[in-house]
Amino acid sequence: MSVISVVGGQWGDEGKGKIVDTLSVDAELVARYQGGANAGHTVYLKKEKIVLHQIPSGILREKCICVLGNGMVVDPEGLYDEIKLVLSKNISIEGRIVIAQNAHIVTPIHKAIDFDREENLENPIGTTGKGIGPAYVDKYNRVGIRGIDLLNIEILENKLKNRLRFAKINNEITEDKIFKIENEIRNYLDTIKKISKYIGDVYQIIDSCLNNSQKILIEGAQGALLDIDHGTYPYVTSSNPSTGGISSGLGLPLHKISRHIGVFKAYCTRVGEGPFPTEQDNSHGEKLRSIGKEYGATTGRPRRCGWFDLPAAKFSVKINGLTEIALTKLDVLDLFDEIKVCTSYKINNEEKFLYSEVMCNLDEVEPVYTIFPGWKIATVGNTHLENLPGKAKEYIRFLEENLGVPIKIISTGPEREQIIEK
Ligand code: GDP
Ligand code: IMO
Ligand code: MG
Repeated sequence: MSVISVVGGQWGDEGKGKIVDTLSVDAELVARYQGGANAGHTVYLKKEKIVLHQIPSGILREKCICVLGNGMVVDPEGLYDEIKLVLSKNISIEGRIVIAQNAHIVTPIHKAIDFDREENLENPIGTTGKGIGPAYVDKYNRVGIRGIDLLNIEILENKLKNRLRFAKINNEITEDKIFKIENEIRNYLDTIKKISKYIGDVYQIIDSCLNNSQKILIEGAQGALLDIDHGTYPYVTSSNPSTGGISSGLGLPLHKISRHIGVFKAYCTRVGEGPFPTEQDNSHGEKLRSIGKEYGATTGRPRRCGWFDLPAAKFSVKINGLTEIALTKLDVLDLFDEIKVCTSYKINNEEKFLYSEVMCNLDEVEPVYTIFPGWKIATVGNTHLENLPGKAKEYIRFLEENLGVPIKIISTGPEREQIIEK
């Protein structure tokens, strides 16, 4: 039996989609357990780029079942667009997509609340505007709409009416938006009819895979530093992207998982607001952005770029219980004269090595760097560790030794074949 989780180790966009796509070649099942259409996972089918937001990245492998777990907040309209995209690539989805009956469902009301909140907050979070936070609020407030509700349009319509009334009473959305939302709900109900057939019993599917020792991959969205509990609160997402979210978000006990793979970029990026100690708001950051094509896969926003943050990564290794690491975008560093790694932080004239000591004051720390000479040789598309330049190997070895878990996968380009598996 092999159950493997693939989770983001930093602030998201580490390349989880590519790693899941690679590992799903012989998987029976790929499952998402949290988040929703805020995710943007880029995969390549031959030379063609596809960005998936909710459908797990296993969809490119024709034998693989793709599950949207109960811990997700599913956006039906986004999902329908994605299904059309996948079909347009001649990929059959017949019997391959299952949405948990108890997954929560995003509505146009949630998106409007998300938008209005961001407009009115003194310090906006910089959300993706996909209604994620408000949908999770409804879940915990026990007024959410769930997958099972999509099977009865009358009940659903009634729930939507009540929710909109509640939003008006509580001033969650401005009066002038109501008419627009009512219109959107009409189109929304049409889409629901097209996706309700995907609602199913995920527990049975997972159980059957476990009993038959079939390979299951679990695909995280976002990253540990955006975790609602362990992340840079309040600049976080509203779910648990770290491995702790898997058991509640899928009903799959953690002890069934044999490998926890953390995906880390060879540097760092972040989209949206919030502290980012190693951010390079300068020519180095611009170079990382331009070579790494660092623009959000969901919103198109430029990603903030900076150097690898070792204390934060070590924290991520610990809280996720990572057994190994996939290091991505090594090739993006090919042209740098020197490469920095933050190895500790300075705060109030004291040096701190533990992320947890400063995580609540992260905007006040100053990073302390160890500097590595750049290798200045192309690593793009490299598939063998021994062919990497010596200085690149030294950089990888340094990260591996300090993180305390093996770096088993090194990605050297966006495409499937551009990968080194140790
Ligand atoms: P995810 O959200 O973690 O799946 O990551 P995204 O898809 O949002 O962002 C990762 C970006 O980096 C995508 O554009 C990928 O195609 C690209 N990518 C992934 N791995 C590599 C790599 O090793 N090298 C380069 N140059 N690009 C990569
Ligand atoms: P993937 O799965 C990077 C960020 C947003 C914002 C914060 C809260 O592609 O790695 P939300 O819309 O979730 O309420 O926004 O989280 N964010 C991501 N950043 N990658 C993602 O997903 C993200 N999903 C949300 O930019 O700062
Ligand atoms: Mg992404």
